[in-house]
Amino acid sequence: MKDFAGKTAVITGGGTGMGRELARQLVAEGCNVAMCDVSAAAMAETKRLCEVERLPQGLRVTTHVADVSIEDQLVRFRDELIEQQATDKIHLLFNNAGIGGGGSLFTSTREQWEKTFNICWGGVYLGVRTFMPLLLKADEGHIVNTSSVNGFWATVGPGVSHTAYSAAKFAVKGFTEALMTDLSLNAPHIKCSVVMPGHIGTSIVSNSRKIQTGAESEALTPNEILATRQRLKGMGIDTAGMSDADIQQIALDRARNFLEQAPTSAAAAARIILDGVKAGSWRILVGDDAHKLDERVRQSPENAYTPEFYQNFAKEVGWRLG
Ligand SMILES: NC(=O)c1ccc[n+]([C@@H]2O[C@H](COP(=O)([O-])OP(=O)(O)OC[C@H]3O[C@@H](n4cnc5c(N)ncnc54)[C@H](O)[C@@H]3O)[C@@H](O)[C@H]2O)c1
Repeated sequence: MKDFAGKTAVITGGGTGMGRELARQLVAEGCNVAMCDVSAAAMAETKRLCEVERLPQGLRVTTHVADVSIEDQLVRFRDELIEQQATDKIHLLFNNAGIGGGGSLFTSTREQWEKTFNICWGGVYLGVRTFMPLLLKADEGHIVNTSSVNGFWATVGPGVSHTAYSAAKFAVKGFTEALMTDLSLNAPHIKCSVVMPGHIGTSIVSNSRKIQTGAESEALTPNEILATRQRLKGMGIDTAGMSDADIQQIALDRARNFLEQAPTSAAAAARIILDGVKAGSWRILVGDDAHKLDERVRQSPENAYTPEFYQNFAKEVGWRLG
């Protein structure tokens, strides 16, 4: 797809981060956008930002509250889109919504684990199923599924359990790669890409926590304080002398550092994704860290989960994920 003007795009998780920046850049290129998110307030801000520049006449930006892990809500989103965008077709589908958390089979609850898995994998799968009829009606279409570097490397470092997110992101990558053949046989006017971002500056750490716990406040619950202590212990940090307030501060700093110290901004990531779609790339690595990691894991797969691999890599690319 060479240009987006006059087309219609669906973006899941359009409230913040990369989803918001995709919406802004698509609108700036004259593309109609229908987004969903679990946060109406975040989407209202995305819509406001999209409309800061006067929208070209007739361009539509619509917002729809829907949880991508619940099929009925996605179907409602689709029905609302057909009515509010006054169309029965879409050209672009960005399955972008995702959260972290639920990393361990032992120290996370089953509910936490399945929440992450069902959003990160189920949301992509259901998104493709729900919007396929609308993609089939367009003269050309492109599905963009967001995986992660955790779609080919299942860790965020030694000492941190990361099973639900990694399982989901590997699934997104495998599904999208296999979908290429299925589309070429059965719907050749639709292409697809898998997006594998490295560390991108977004609020995913604090957003994930809020979605996992249902809390609006930044204050950790006693269970979260305990989980943070366990996480730090796994990383070799002794928390015995730290107060709960110290632990709270560490969690806040981690979320802020994730946003502020990333090598790639959400806006730069969205540009890379949209350029990748225009170039027809099926694999879109986002950021130098993602490219380097892809090379290293291929060069040395047997060592990919050793502490040395992580430490050397994190040092080389300047990761300070904590
Ligand atoms: N930030 C990174 O470093 C990074 C790296 C690799 C992959 N990713 C992936 O990129 C995607 C976008 O993440 P981001 O970093 O922009 O995070 P973000 O938290 O800024 O944005 C994600 C958005 O998805 C929404 N969301 C969460 N659960 C939802 C649900 N069930 N239904 C609908 N919306 C939901 C959130 O409210 C939020 O607005 C995610 O799939 C994430 O896993 C991010």
